[in-house]
Amino acid sequence: MAALRTTRLLASSRPLFTSSVFARSYATVDPLSKVSEATSASSKFVPESQTSTVKEPAPSATPRTKTFHVYRWDPDTPSEKPRMQSYTLDLNKTGPMMLDALIRIKNEVDPTLTFRRSCREGICGSCAMNIDGVNTLACLCRIPTDTTKESRIYPLPHTYVVKDLVPDLTHFYKQYKSIKPYLQTDSKPEDGLENRQSIEDRRKLDGLYECILCACCSTSCPSYWWNSEEYLGPAILLQSYRWLADSRDSKTEERKAALNNSMSVYRCHTILNCSRTCPKGLNPGKAIAEIKKMMAF
Ligand code: SF4
Ligand code: SF4
Ligand code: FES
Repeated sequence: MAALRTTRLLASSRPLFTSSVFARSYATVDPLSKVSEATSASSKFVPESQTSTVKEPAPSATPRTKTFHVYRWDPDTPSEKPRMQSYTLDLNKTGPMMLDALIRIKNEVDPTLTFRRSCREGICGSCAMNIDGVNTLACLCRIPTDTTKESRIYPLPHTYVVKDLVPDLTHFYKQYKSIKPYLQTDSKPEDGLENRQSIEDRRKLDGLYECILCACCSTSCPSYWWNSEEYLGPAILLQSYRWLADSRDSKTEERKAALNNSMSVYRCHTILNCSRTCPKGLNPGKAIAEIKKMMAF
């Protein structure tokens, strides 16, 4: 674990650099080996890469080569600094999404590249990573078709790294477990069937139940970067509100009491990075505001 801890990614704004942190924030490029040290990703917030609706070009004989710089770190050689590795692909032979590019690199160029993915349709949340400065899902992120612009792919920021693009989300899931993310009710329906609710009450869960726990929002939140041991962060708080807002749950007061301290909720300073980055279009910032409102009254 000590080895993993050395690869924790810290914001470039923090004047606290371990060797790996230094690699995260400053660039040196060796054009011969095509391997470069990391460049600062924190300043490159490019929402277009997440939302653009670029038309797929027709297949063409002229190669459309694009370079992808990918963060690499191998736990088997923990003394080696994290580095950026460059791969050049012909977009004519690559699917339209960033995940397609990564899969092609792994299958055809470099089988040692490691990343998580499963559903490839924005449902499982496993391919969350930082692409061109934005936390997003690689399977929902189109490859920008401008081949003169190179893409940079990092693991989710401020996470411990298991290997390459795989973040260690152990603490994130521990926090999720801490909010008891399941229905708690004292009474059973008289007819012994489901715990039902009105259409209006069910509507209150819209915008909450869709969260896939990808952690894109939490790892984009400055408050979570610095206080993740105690602050629950936007993803877990959105889930927390999902149960607070559920008319069938009878533990509202207990849930509120568990959040009633200076750190769990109140480290949110309404910066709203979370809502801006959510690849599912959810609004964790609003959910946190609703929790604060419930706590106040
Ligand atoms: S709120 Fe959005 S970004 Fe945050 S974990 Fe859920 S789906 Fe991911
Ligand atoms: S609104 Fe709150 S949770 Fe969202 S990024 Fe800002 S501080 Fe973090
Ligand atoms: S592979 Fe499942 S969300 Fe991307």
